[in-house]
Amino acid sequence: MKKLIFTMPGAQSLAEDIADESELPLGHYKEHTFPDRETLFRILDPVDGAHIYLVAHLDNPDPKTLQLLMLTEGFRQQGAANVTLVAPYLPYMRQDTAFNDGEVVSARAFAKLVSASFDHLITIDPHLHRYQRLDELYDITSDVVSAALPMACWIAQNASTPIVIGPDIESEQWVRQIAGALKAPCDTLRKTRKGDDDVQIASSHLDIGAARSIVLVDDIISSGATMLRTIESIRRDFQDRDIFCAAVHCLASSETLDQFKAAGLSAIAATDSVHSPISDISIARILAQTICSDSSI
Ligand code: R5P
Repeated sequence: MKKLIFTMPGAQSLAEDIADESELPLGHYKEHTFPDRETLFRILDPVDGAHIYLVAHLDNPDPKTLQLLMLTEGFRQQGAANVTLVAPYLPYMRQDTAFNDGEVVSARAFAKLVSASFDHLITIDPHLHRYQRLDELYDITSDVVSAALPMACWIAQNASTPIVIGPDIESEQWVRQIAGALKAPCDTLRKTRKGDDDVQIASSHLDIGAARSIVLVDDIISSGATMLRTIESIRRDFQDRDIFCAAVHCLASSETLDQFKAAGLSAIAATDSVHSPISDISIARILAQTICSDSSI
């Protein structure tokens, strides 16, 4: 079956990298915004009978979701056989329960929308916490790809004799995989969150042994509170060590990233699952490999 890669507005560079790595063609469309702010897509390449991989950066998901569904419907109207969503950052996964009476479980709502439009989902390290697997939320099949190897490569190139530390128990899954790839020790701290950016970190039990670099790893940097409080806590206890930060998905604002600059880190990086000034770890190859060996068709 013919495979074609398309990009959502804003994800061109990742889609091009995936097309290069997979040696698959990139499809094209024109986008027009009417004076009333409605969008018209015109698909320029024939997609009849093709398997489409639509690459999307889904940070700030609300304004992007309607365009995502429009474009997918367009592929189906033109006769595409299959449409896979390639969303390396899968949004709304942290809203996987009602924390207070009356709250919408957004993870379920978003999963319903995506499942109704797409045939398959490829994503990187989704925030699976209360749910163990994506198929507990999504009605379509999925490939969950780990960014542990590219992240471990970045750490190996930057940090000498590292110990990998996660800020909370939820980060343990990523910390263990990355430390395993590096053959480095690891541990996780304890976090208490009282609000969006009100976070406390307990690190008193930490023993870093002979490690010379402390590498803080988490899946998401959003408000930055988790990582910034972790840096402060580690800095207090281990003043003579180099501190690095690596995240899978960086959703932080540039103001937040300025606070990281001021925190005296040796280096910080995230994958290019979304655009950010620190998205230096490429995930194009692991996504291309998944597309080339796609088991869903
Ligand atoms: C939560 O459990 C996640 O793994 C991250 O620790 C969290 O989303 C980071 O968010 P923030 O940067 O807002 O503290």
